[in-house]
Formats: sequence, structure tokens, C-alpha cells
Amino acid sequence: MTGEELVARARAVAANAYAPYSNYFVGAAVVARDGRVFEGVNVENAAYPLGICAEKAAISCAVTDGCKPGDLEAIGITASPCGGCRQWLWEFRIDRVTFPNSAGEIVTYTPAELLPEAWELPE
Ligand code: THU
Repeated sequence: MTGEELVARARAVAANAYAPYSNYFVGAAVVARDGRVFEGVNVENAAYPLGICAEKAAISCAVTDGCKPGDLEAIGITASPCGGCRQWLWEFRIDRVTFPNSAGEIVTYTPAELLPEAWELPE
């Protein structure tokens, strides 16, 4: 799947977001190397810090279905990923991360470009 197709899937699923506090609906769609597609949306909570981002929801669905770091090829998001999600994208070694930037252009980066000098747990 192309990055544009993944962003289109993310835009469609964003309607399902549970975001009554921010009213900011985010969607994400991730494709595994074997073709499986997993979607996620942001899920907020009245205790605000407990909400989760769409990217984390999508990656969690993939992990629930058996995916591991290295199994996910690309992700499309309806917005630029937050700092915490960039750490998740790094962890799962996703090749391509596609989203509309602040100018509305669809852009694609690697997790390393989005999170240079990323922290890793020392072995
Ligand atoms: N949000 C995401 O789902 N992904 C991001 O990368 C940025 C922020 C959500 C979290 C919250 O529900 C809403 O956007 C406003 O911050």
C-alpha cells in the first residue's frame, strides 16, 4: 500500500475516534509486511492524561494479532505524530511514516528522521 492509501484509510477511520475533550479526531493505519492492515484512533478519557493516541492504538492492534518489531512496513496518520508516538514508531522499526504536514502536503519520513539520535534501552 502506498503512503497516500494508508493516509486515506486513516482519514476514514478517524471518524471513529473517541475525542470528546479535544474534539481532535486522529486516525492511523499500519500495514504489515504480509499485507495485514491495522487501524487505530485516539481514545480519550475524562482523566485527560490517560487517553491514547491513534498510532499507539493501531500498533497495539498489530501486536495483538501477533506482530513484532520489524513486521510493520508503513503507517499513515491523519496528523504529524507526537513525540511519544515517534518513540513507538522507532521501536517497531516501521520503514515509512506518512502524514499531512502543517502545510497540508503528504510527506513521508523514516522513524530515524522523525526521531534522530533515538534513545534505546542499553543491552
Ligand atoms: N493525538 C494522537 O492521536 N496522535 C498524535 O500523534 C498526536 C495527538 C491525539 C491525542 C488526543 O486525543 C488529541 O490528539 C489531542 O491531543
